[in-house]
Amino acid sequence: MLEIENRRKALQDNLDAQKKQRERNIMGQFSTPYLLALDIMQHMKSLIKGNNVSLFEPSIGTGVFYSVFAEVFGTDKKAFGIELDNHYFSPAKQLWEGFPLEIVQADFFNITPDRHFPLLVANPPYIRHHHIENSQKQELQLRTYEQTGIKTSGLTGMYCYFLMLSEQWLEDGGISCWLIPSEFMDVNYGKALKHYLLNNVELLQIHRFNATDLQFADALVSSCIVIFRKAKPQSNSPIRFTLGGSISKPEKETLIDRQEIADSQKWTNLFENGIVQTNETEKLGDYFTVKRGVVTGDNNFFIVDDNKIEQYGIDKKFLYPILPSPRYIKGDIIEATGELPDIERQEYLFSCNLSESILKQQYPGTWSYIQEGERQGVRDGYICSRRTPWYSCEERPPASIIVPYMGRSDTNKRMFRFILNKSKAITTNVYLLLYPKPQYARSLRDLTILTQVWHALNSIPQERMIKGGRFYGGGLRKMEPNELMNIPLSEISGLLEEDNKQLSLFQ
Ligand SMILES: C[S@@+](CC[C@H](N)C(=O)[O-])C[C@H]1O[C@@H](n2cnc3c(N)ncnc32)[C@H](O)[C@@H]1O
Repeated sequence: MLEIENRRKALQDNLDAQKKQRERNIMGQFSTPYLLALDIMQHMKSLIKGNNVSLFEPSIGTGVFYSVFAEVFGTDKKAFGIELDNHYFSPAKQLWEGFPLEIVQADFFNITPDRHFPLLVANPPYIRHHHIENSQKQELQLRTYEQTGIKTSGLTGMYCYFLMLSEQWLEDGGISCWLIPSEFMDVNYGKALKHYLLNNVELLQIHRFNATDLQFADALVSSCIVIFRKAKPQSNSPIRFTLGGSISKPEKETLIDRQEIADSQKWTNLFENGIVQTNETEKLGDYFTVKRGVVTGDNNFFIVDDNKIEQYGIDKKFLYPILPSPRYIKGDIIEATGELPDIERQEYLFSCNLSESILKQQYPGTWSYIQEGERQGVRDGYICSRRTPWYSCEERPPASIIVPYMGRSDTNKRMFRFILNKSKAITTNVYLLLYPKPQYARSLRDLTILTQVWHALNSIPQERMIKGGRFYGGGLRKMEPNELMNIPLSEISGLLEEDNKQLSLFQ
């Protein structure tokens, strides 16, 4: 937590205490609890690519979302916020003096965007329709229709207009995250917002809190978090409906096709559909240690083919067969001739830890290749400049079961697949490598057992795999080694014989 967060929270409590409950209801002034804001921002970090991020908050209050944004992304990142009420605006502006946060006092609906943001996070005012003046209602209905082509009912709450009219503040592909009441999912006035989420943007996720777990005790509404991307909706990309717990660790999750959502009158029913719940206690990590493949520092230099080997005369001693990117591996089995994989793209990892003087004398071809790397500036790269010698890659033994660490829902129905690698080829970090735990190593040296285990791993339902990985939007999922080790796994129990630990000491 940033040091300033304590001051912000004290300020928030103090300012809230000076207002009557009715006043706060009319203006929709219920601040987001710090821990909830932090959880949301950490989740945003998993969705945002790259380091070039800035935040827009259309109804900033005292700035809890900026506080967690600075904590999660760094205090050097810029942000822009709007606040209507001077009661919150002035003290907030003073509080954040010196931070790269610009706050203006204005009505969100009266301010024309002069910039676009990659990230928007908001807890907009929950002002019910009967507190919105008729003239303002008509103006908002008209603007929503003009900007989105969607007609809204007169009963629409203010938060819906905030959400539907915020798109012009986002850059293309920007992520938008809204903490709003969940009632729009079931009531009549919510149809417009649901239509917007399914047709105007790429809806990524809706998280519903448990009805009993009220996020704002003082506002008495059950809330949800809606996350979307400013992009055309992807018809074949299912949408995550998560329920309970926190957004980064929901208790339940289900993936639902857009069509099924569109056909559903009450979206709150969808959260219970096809829920992935497992009572398994065994995990993949009980059987395997998972490691990422080799990070070379520069694949163009360290991955070499026969032509390059011949051209420079690189010595075999420094070459390790390596698999190409998963897109070149068509099936789920890599056959082998001897140690080499039976694939078209035969490639090798170049790695060596002898000194340049020895190489120059004894392996002139290899030495000339290293010279070439120096000429190209490979040694100055981030990874290479931090190791000695710079041309020595980390060691990774080959693994019999490997998993491409990234999957796309639109290109591959099975986003995560386990590949049986019968060769001795290693991989770069686009794969995860599964190494048997010592007590199962002997059992897994038997090809029949290994094949059974590999089949069993591929029978893990994709939903369970997807739930364990990370969501990157646009149908893209990634899996980190520890996430794969945490995947619940009952499928292989009974297939593997555990070595008696005492016996294995003498092997
Ligand atoms: C639900 S609070 C959220 C505050 C803060 N973002 C947070 O999460 O704690 C909504 C805020 O929006 C402000 N607000 C209400 N109507 C607004 C408008 N039309 N334009 C900008 N801010 C507005 C309120 O004064 C209040 O501070």
